[in-house]
Amino acid sequence: MRKPIIAGNWKMHKTGAEAKQLVEELKELIAGVEDVEIVVCPPFTALETVTELCRGTNLTVGAQNMHWEKEGAYTGEISGQMLKYLGCRYVIVGHSERRQYFGETNETVNKKVKAALSCGLYPIVCVGETLEQREAGITAEVCRKQVEEGLASLKDDQVSRVVVAYEPVWAIGTGRTASARDAEEVISYIRSVVAGMYGEKAAGEMRIQYGGSVKPDNIKELMEQPNIDGALVGGASLKAQSFAQIVRFEG
Ligand code: G3P
Repeated sequence: MRKPIIAGNWKMHKTGAEAKQLVEELKELIAGVEDVEIVVCPPFTALETVTELCRGTNLTVGAQNMHWEKEGAYTGEISGQMLKYLGCRYVIVGHSERRQYFGETNETVNKKVKAALSCGLYPIVCVGETLEQREAGITAEVCRKQVEEGLASLKDDQVSRVVVAYEPVWAIGTGRTASARDAEEVISYIRSVVAGMYGEKAAGEMRIQYGGSVKPDNIKELMEQPNIDGALVGGASLKAQSFAQIVRFEG
């Protein structure tokens, strides 16, 4: 059985003090939830505060990006080791905003995924089509390429540590969610692509989330789909109340 995973991607929001307040509120609201893995992904500057606050709780922490090198002359970059040292468990890789604004490619995604795995982090790898691509009927092709190239040449025992997040770009921050049925269709296709690469068992163990305008009122239907194992939540993760409702699959 795949344990559901709900992750909040705070993007470029929350100072350290604001992060502290949000996590403190959240901890109370989600106390006792053990059947769902709950992850918060603050900006780098709040990671230390948040990992300290989450220690020993049912909340785990992820970063939003990393570099693939261990160290070196890469001004402004952060390595996987640095994240691991802080107590991060997850790292988001290949978010569409990074692909769109910061030149992330399937190749750099693959380097980051491998680097994350080799230092003991669990990557959350984002894939998804733009509106133009959906309208052109190439959603499956785009996602297949992102998965095949982004997850290329992993070791067999690493595959089930990867989480994939299917985030159609047109649904991010727009209030327009893919219907649960459309999301399920693409996600089950992604699982079949992983099966083609690493076999049915690995694909069956991999958790695949949906992301894009997830809210308390649509989480239940999304989670009822057989292949959807959780959500990567942007805007609605910035308020403790709405994120907690999502974590509890409550509308
Ligand atoms: O990574 C989460 C994301 O891009 C979705 O954002 O605000 O539509 O939930 P949002």
